[in-house]
Amino acid sequence: MTRAPHWGDAYYGELYRDSVADLLTPRLTELEAAAIASLLPLGAGDAVLDLACGHGRHARLLARAGIRVTGLDRSGGYLRSAAAASPGAAGPGLVRGDVRALPFRAGAFDAVFSWYASLFMFDDATNEGCLAEAARVVRPGGRVLVHHANPLRLAREPRASARRTLRDGSVVEEESAFDAARGVDRCARRLVRPGGAALAGIAELRYYMPTEWGRLAERAGLRLVELTTTPDAGRSARREPGPEAPDLIALMEKPT
Ligand SMILES: C[S@@+](CC[C@H](N)C(=O)[O-])C[C@H]1O[C@@H](n2cnc3c(N)ncnc32)[C@H](O)[C@@H]1O
Repeated sequence: MTRAPHWGDAYYGELYRDSVADLLTPRLTELEAAAIASLLPLGAGDAVLDLACGHGRHARLLARAGIRVTGLDRSGGYLRSAAAASPGAAGPGLVRGDVRALPFRAGAFDAVFSWYASLFMFDDATNEGCLAEAARVVRPGGRVLVHHANPLRLAREPRASARRTLRDGSVVEEESAFDAARGVDRCARRLVRPGGAALAGIAELRYYMPTEWGRLAERAGLRLVELTTTPDAGRSARREPGPEAPDLIALMEKPT
């Protein structure tokens, strides 16, 4: 299917890969993979889909734990990096595809997850369609987990700007503004190489409020089990995230 041009085409290439590499440390990825595994929960042999897996940082760790992971992403370059990082049968399966129309049969997975704002990159109707696709490919009784930034926190401080110098001397500049009425965070990012060459792109990500999640899940054919946050994921008593929480995780289940 031919798709209309989308901001992600320019954003999710070298620009995103090189500007976040220092932030996505192995330790952070380990903590996040542990949160995913404990919330879904996952066990050895489970068939799991990592939606928009990027360079496969979570898929790789989960596959090492004996989980049958398939990572899907639209970027051929990111999938090649994922394959190179875990060659052979022990790595995750990798599929090039689009979150808007998943190339899998209904009920193919025991669980589906999408981490780091990788599902809601479109208008609301399309975002709902993406969640419905996730719901379609999970089996009845299976769970779907979606992670993104905490819109309650962003609503308190809607504007942010940052400038970092990377190890190779490149400079990353970011300006972001959260529109609480639309639930959309617009982030303009620029990466300037030491030689002066520059890459630039704008991301527009939709972050759903805790009050929106019940209806969103229901419209996709899912039941909202809970809303939580990464630091709470391993705890038995978890609270719904307030404005202080660093992120938001929605855990849903497909009715049997
Ligand atoms: C913020 S990154 C997150 C990657 C990964 N989940 C992680 O936590 O490292 C978003 C990912 O979405 C992918 N992406 C963007 N549009 C997509 C689409 N329409 N279908 C599938 N993947 C897409 C990008 O290539 C990128 O890898």
